[in-house]
Amino acid sequence: MTEAPRPLGRRPLVAGNWKMNGLRKDLAEADKICAATAAGEAGDAEIVLCLPATLLAAAAASCEAAGVGLGGQHCHGAPAGPFTGDISAEMLKDAGATYVILGHSERRAGHNEGNASVREKSRAAFRAGLVAIVCVGETRAQREAGDAMAIVGSQLTGSIPGEATPETLVVAYEPVWAIGTGLTPTLKDIADMHRFIRERVEADIPGVGGSIRILYGGSVKPGNAADILSTPNVDGALVGGASLTAKDFMGVAGVFQDRRLAS
Ligand code: 13P
Repeated sequence: MTEAPRPLGRRPLVAGNWKMNGLRKDLAEADKICAATAAGEAGDAEIVLCLPATLLAAAAASCEAAGVGLGGQHCHGAPAGPFTGDISAEMLKDAGATYVILGHSERRAGHNEGNASVREKSRAAFRAGLVAIVCVGETRAQREAGDAMAIVGSQLTGSIPGEATPETLVVAYEPVWAIGTGLTPTLKDIADMHRFIRERVEADIPGVGGSIRILYGGSVKPGNAADILSTPNVDGALVGGASLTAKDFMGVAGVFQDRRLAS
């Protein structure tokens, strides 16, 4: 298959989101992902593991040696202070992270995170030198009502700070109804939404929309990764369940090795 040339700066990115899964013994899977990445099994894709905060420091050395990025899964807006149970962007950075997921639908829904809060946290990420992976996506009811783009558009405009750059921000489109369900939008729906996201970011932050990386997330598995990752304006994937084992995660990221071998 011949791929359209990818604009400079949009290096493919496959990020794993372990969510609230993983004990120290599970770092064996992270180590396997590191070894496979170092062996070239992800081709030229960038690989990032967003682990529970308790595992970041323990995973930092092997990830760094393998060229695998580490990420947190949320952060507070302040650098430090009386916020029991919270974690700052600076703490994530100190533990070895270079990325942080912000505004995941599980936090928007379960922790009342609104767009303004996600924007504040994105600024905290920039302040600490982390790349923010800002998640957006509609619910099933919103899609069925024909509101998917309006919802995603307002999430983008409300959540992304105007000073974001392609170096500091990644957008992840994760339809809520596709997360953990085995359901995915059609490839046309993914293409339409990713084009819409690129245009909206360009309208909001001129000069940035064309080079920002837009990931698709929601039931990405080895069996559907090749199709999803070939869709226009899909620059990579944010992978939940399939990131918990090296076999499945490399089954997704391996799409990029296959492309390199084919070219
Ligand atoms: P699943 O891949 O398990 O559907 O999760 C997607 C997700 O929420 C990643 O952030």
